[in-house]
Amino acid sequence: MAGRLRLGVNIDHVATVRNARGGSLPCPVRAAHLAIAAGADGITAHLREDRRHIRDGDVERLATELTKPLNFEMASTEEMLMLAERLKPHAACLVPEKREERTTEGGLDVVGQEAALAPVIARLATAGCRVSLFIEADAAPIRMAAKLGAPVVELHTGTWCEAFLAGEHDKAQAEFRRLAEGAALGVSLGLEVHAGHGLDYDTARLLAAVPEFVEFNIGHFLVGEAIFIGLDATIARMRQAMDEGRAGA
Ligand code: PXP
Repeated sequence: MAGRLRLGVNIDHVATVRNARGGSLPCPVRAAHLAIAAGADGITAHLREDRRHIRDGDVERLATELTKPLNFEMASTEEMLMLAERLKPHAACLVPEKREERTTEGGLDVVGQEAALAPVIARLATAGCRVSLFIEADAAPIRMAAKLGAPVVELHTGTWCEAFLAGEHDKAQAEFRRLAEGAALGVSLGLEVHAGHGLDYDTARLLAAVPEFVEFNIGHFLVGEAIFIGLDATIARMRQAMDEGRAGA
């Protein structure tokens, strides 16, 4: 039987709202504590090169204050590496980052960047971080992640979620299959498999039925929904959706 799915709550967009006005409110670290109290299994935060949402001071506080694991999303730059080596978050998830994108638009090009990624993964592992690579659910990057010795992959669910939301039935089905096959391949290669990007109650419930996934990282939908029903109720509903999906697996 498939085990319990972990829910990582990404609090980046609490910081987006804060930064729209400058100043210090709403506080993303407060949101992180609330999320944990409401049942999150961990907190995810992405410190982007342009600091458009999370700032250095947020990461410092998250790394020292949280009572659950911090998953630090980062580009593989020297600046981020040095920060991760100093703060030693539980997990470091390597993501691609382009200044002009609104969000992380695709998976990491692990096949093209094998030589550059190997030393980054080694340094993070030496710092004690559990390294995760955010990749597309295709065989080539999944195999490369295993070859590079990363213990975890996070499969990019954005294309599937967009197709599902748009009612593009055939595309959504094909994308779901790609994710399920990718997860099975990852596990067969000894990887721990996570998923994230664009998930909401419906897509999280559906994807939870794929037993190979052990963690979902969800942000934008939860922060948006929290405006209407509160963060704790939102997280409780997401937890329920994931548990229902998993129970049917
Ligand atoms: N996982 C990774 C690696 C991401 O980059 C993001 C977006 O920052 C997420 C999960 C969460 O995506 P969303 O905010 O769409 O739920």
